[in-house]
Amino acid sequence: MTIHIGAKPGEIAETVLMPGDPYRAKWAAETFLDDAVCVNEVRGMLGFTGTWKGNRVTIQGSGMGMPSLSIYANELITEYNAQTLIRIGSCGGMQDHVGVRDVILASTTTTLSTPSRGIFKELNYAPTADFDLLHKAFHAAERLDVKTHVGGIYSSDVFYDERPDLTEQMMRHGILGVEMEAAELYILAARHKRRALAVLTVSDHLVTHEALPADQRERSFGDMVEIALSAAFA
Ligand code: HPA
Repeated sequence: MTIHIGAKPGEIAETVLMPGDPYRAKWAAETFLDDAVCVNEVRGMLGFTGTWKGNRVTIQGSGMGMPSLSIYANELITEYNAQTLIRIGSCGGMQDHVGVRDVILASTTTTLSTPSRGIFKELNYAPTADFDLLHKAFHAAERLDVKTHVGGIYSSDVFYDERPDLTEQMMRHGILGVEMEAAELYILAARHKRRALAVLTVSDHLVTHEALPADQRERSFGDMVEIALSAAFA
């Protein structure tokens, strides 16, 4: 047990998928895993361990934003020895050619700040995905025939953003989408020599203002979970 995760030693797999929403962790575990067991309920941040095609995997909610994700990722890495951490989440589309329902594999992420800012200070560190995972996720997406984009995303600290000028600059510089967690996950993975990737479904769009209807969310999110699992165990 750690401060925020109630799982006993050995109850967390080496491969962990991390959705922001704990109820999405429950849905993904029930939908994709065999013999899924709930291993964490602390603060309602549900986590489940089961198997996918015989491979042990944990799906643990991260909460929203980098400070929350940092707590769970730190404890998963340092206390439970997680080796592969894949964020599965939603993002807002930022380019015309990136449609709602498409998947984004974040090769790198731009931020204003992360919980690791205190380490880097004036340095602009470039948080980067694990290439092997990225490569395998891309091929899995092709195999599943899911429209997928690979490139930079924006990990923002705020959902209700008072700086439209920053969003505009991100779009101008080719950033594909905005979410709130991936940068710190990549930084923690690099620090502890683990593998990390963010597989994101575009759930809404900052240019077209289109949003994924509730009844279509499940199917799209399912593609993302399958891509993440395929990448982890390819
Ligand atoms: N902003 C930040 N995070 C998000 C968004 C957004 O528009 N959509 C989904 N996650």
